[in-house]
Amino acid sequence: MHILLIGNGGREHALAWKLAQSPQVSKISVAPGSAAIVAETSAATRIEQLMLDIDDHQALCNFAVEQQVHLTVVGPELPLVAGIVDAFETAGLRILGPRAAAAQLEGSKAYAKEFMQRHSIPTAAHATFQSADKAHQYIDERGVPIVVKADGLAAGKGVVVAQTLIEAHAAVDAMLSDHSFGDAGATVVIEEFLAGEEASFIALVDGQHCLPFATSQDHKARNEGDTGPNTGGMGAYSPAPVVTSEVEQHILQDIVEPSVAGLNKDGTPFKGFLYVGLMIDSSGAARVVEYNVRLGDPETQPLLMRLNSDLLTMLDAAVDGKLDKIHADWNPQCALGVVLAAGDYPASSGKGDSIKGIDEAEALGCKVFHAGTKLADNIDTGNDKFVTNGGRILCVSALGDDIVEAKKLADKGAAAINFSRMHYRRDIGYRAVARLTESA
Ligand code: AMP
Ligand code: GLY
Repeated sequence: MHILLIGNGGREHALAWKLAQSPQVSKISVAPGSAAIVAETSAATRIEQLMLDIDDHQALCNFAVEQQVHLTVVGPELPLVAGIVDAFETAGLRILGPRAAAAQLEGSKAYAKEFMQRHSIPTAAHATFQSADKAHQYIDERGVPIVVKADGLAAGKGVVVAQTLIEAHAAVDAMLSDHSFGDAGATVVIEEFLAGEEASFIALVDGQHCLPFATSQDHKARNEGDTGPNTGGMGAYSPAPVVTSEVEQHILQDIVEPSVAGLNKDGTPFKGFLYVGLMIDSSGAARVVEYNVRLGDPETQPLLMRLNSDLLTMLDAAVDGKLDKIHADWNPQCALGVVLAAGDYPASSGKGDSIKGIDEAEALGCKVFHAGTKLADNIDTGNDKFVTNGGRILCVSALGDDIVEAKKLADKGAAAINFSRMHYRRDIGYRAVARLTESA
């Protein structure tokens, strides 16, 4: 079968890698993809880059019709929010993802907050503002810590967790007065600071039923000890020990199932990956920090390393409304991924620095997923054929019998790789490691 995959990052590399293992998949076209994704081509599965603009839904639809594509899988949020699923479904094509109306859960934080209020889903108290004066007044009334968020998509940069009034007021000024985030910051959500430990909970949803994925956690802060600016994610691991089976039941009953039911009640049924970012307090009570309408990046990389089941069978069942007939089998081992980023990510990106050691890391037993690389112009560089081309460059992922073993191997793989001004965190998974050590 022929699959069309939309996207080009580490998440999409992991999706292509896993889909290529399916005996049902003979060809994957990936738009725009990357050379590293194409390199997953095997004797059974050919992978090709499709140089179409992911905003050009009509051209992608035409390709899917002409090539009789069996299923289109969408990685990133932008095409979902822009209505790619609506366009494909109108053309009678099979695609996995929410329509634009349901994708508003990620596309607008104000919409997501109203949705949670409407359906009694636990989340931080909030208020929404378009006027800077009223926002400043609200911050003075509430005090700090407080969280200021741009309403729209801002690639993970539109959230300020303010510890001081100065920071909170400056965030409002940047968004509402200086228009630093353009339209995405024309409305701001100001919300209560939630204390606790974050976890990511991802479920595959078919409109009615949901198939929960294994639990996972990521590290969003750039620097060790979870300090420094917020990023797209510096590493992730699965399972998340903070999500005990009791906490998982609570998340399913009080958050995920009411979300799926609420989307149906609102007339915006959801198909695809529903990602709930959670803050879990010391009593195990979870509240929603954010919704994403797609798989997490980098959570997908360690998650898919643990998935034993055939991914295409799961995705097909989601599109066909048959997830209640499906069981996902997860490897009981732990998986951990360390992101290798450009020197001053998230401020800027790496471009054209030669990357050494990918083969060495894989020889150790790691799987190296590419987030921002391209082929070197001069291929005579032997094994080092990739150069940097982005903020997050690679995600070095490994399995282990426990989190300590998985971390040891991923860290070793990361240390085997080198490019100019490479930055990565040596403490990915530290909370899970501490829990394991405490319980020993
Ligand atoms: P978001 O884009 O909404 O997920 O926010 C990015 C990050 O900011 C989250 O992963 C949290 O680390 C932090 N954050 C967001 N909202 C809150 C909140 N209400 N309380 C504490 N931290 C938050
Ligand atoms: N890792 C966080 C995200 O994908 O949004």
